[in-house]
Amino acid sequence: MDIVVSNLSKSFGTNHVLVGFNAIFPGHRLTCLMGPSGCGKTTLLNILMGFIRPDGGSVRGVPRFKSAVFQEDRLCESFNAVSNVRFVCDRKVDTSKVISHLENIGLKDSLDQPVSELSGGMKRRVAIVRSIFAKSDVLFLDEPFKGLDVDTKKDVMQYLKDNMQGRTVIMVTHSIDEVKALNGKLITMSGKDGNNEN
Ligand SMILES: Nc1ncnc2c1ncn2[C@@H]1O[C@H](COP(=O)(O)OP(=O)(O)OP(=O)(O)O)[C@@H](O)[C@H]1O
Ligand SMILES: [Mg+2]
Repeated sequence: MDIVVSNLSKSFGTNHVLVGFNAIFPGHRLTCLMGPSGCGKTTLLNILMGFIRPDGGSVRGVPRFKSAVFQEDRLCESFNAVSNVRFVCDRKVDTSKVISHLENIGLKDSLDQPVSELSGGMKRRVAIVRSIFAKSDVLFLDEPFKGLDVDTKKDVMQYLKDNMQGRTVIMVTHSIDEVKALNGKLITMSGKDGNNEN
């Protein structure tokens, strides 16, 4: 099912972040959201995820089961990578499967350390694997490749492609190359009032 956003508005005091925002996010496909810093991308995701209420407008078709890579990693810092992923998994999932995903994404030598000891790009990859293991029909990715070098980013993009498994994906990015590499639908938000320009 598509996610349909109609005439959405959200202000913080006198800061009118979203004004009459409309968009369609096709089901089972990847859509990328681009726009200048502060235009309301994260705010829009927060509304779609149900964390904040819009002032007006409507959102339809958001599946019940959601997972996310937030703009910040939001990991449990004192636990290792495997535990961070296990927290969101169904009990039936084998730990060996979690380990193989983390290894596949370049974290083989960092599985046992608390994530507080990992680099920014390593933490990001843990957050990405966690989002894949959480049971979800829609995946919200807020600048998921932040802090990754070019080669690692390639591997992680391939990992995401291989593991999205028909989910609806909404990804915030500042890079048109990422949109092209992932063959995403592009929605551009303007800096002035959050209205889309498509
Ligand atoms: N909880 C809040 N209280 C007050 N203002 C907020 C709040 N959350 C966001 N804003 C404001 O809303 C605007 C949009 O913020 P948002 O985080 O959605 O931008 P963004 O497009 O995700 O930017 P970036 O690319 O830098 O992540 C900004 O002006 C921000 O200061
Ligand atoms: Mg943001």
